[in-house]
Amino acid sequence: MKTVIGNWKMNVGVRESIALARGTLLTLRGRKVVPNLIICPSFIALSEVRKVIARSSVSLCAQNMSWEDKGAFTGEISSRMLDEVGVTHVLIGHSERRGLFSETDEIVNRKLKKALENNLTPIVCIGESVEHREEGGYLEIIKNQIASALGGIRLRSSAKLFIAYEPIWAIGTGKNADVAQVIEVHEFIKTVLSDIFPGIKEDQLNVLYGGSVNGDNAYALLREKSIDGVLVGGASVKINQFKDVIEAASEVLEAQE
Ligand code: PGA
Repeated sequence: MKTVIGNWKMNVGVRESIALARGTLLTLRGRKVVPNLIICPSFIALSEVRKVIARSSVSLCAQNMSWEDKGAFTGEISSRMLDEVGVTHVLIGHSERRGLFSETDEIVNRKLKKALENNLTPIVCIGESVEHREEGGYLEIIKNQIASALGGIRLRSSAKLFIAYEPIWAIGTGKNADVAQVIEVHEFIKTVLSDIFPGIKEDQLNVLYGGSVNGDNAYALLREKSIDGVLVGGASVKINQFKDVIEAASEVLEAQE
């Protein structure tokens, strides 16, 4: 299976989110094979988007969550609250959260533990800066990010975990990592994960790529075995572009049948 995630960030309000969710559903019409599709509206649009996708195979994902269940945490949203409005997945540690809102590896770890405790499927984002890429120490950075994010984590046999490799230099820049760069890192991540979770079922762990994915580069990425899917930001709020990404995933899946 291949996964396509649309991260709408803070780009669309409630009305536009409803329209975008409807548009996304239309892109699935008439397709024999469709990818595992997950959309991430803003918190305020979750309930409305849930109604639109209710009878579809599309899953609802939050862009962030608190590491606590409840209490005096003004402005925060807990995983239990997300569950209440039909959220099944959550992004954790997106580079914008880490960079702009001071989320540390420790916070990412706490959120991940809480998400799993409350049966949300986490999508943990990791990735190196341009400096680390140029210095050449990026694999070490990635290994450390995974080790800190997953410290003390146990995965139940029914639980799934997504790791999204999103090099910071590729996010929102129009400059995606090339396929060979992504394959190198994904194979590395898979080795690191199999050391942490020996004997785990293959479909429990998925490694996605994110960073300037669009209709033009999606097919070349998705056809690679080590790339289990893509996390799409900017192109996911432009329905024609997102349609092309979904189409690319469907074509890859059809070719594999
Ligand atoms: P982008 O964003 O596709 O606009 O580069 C990806 C992301 O931030 O998840």
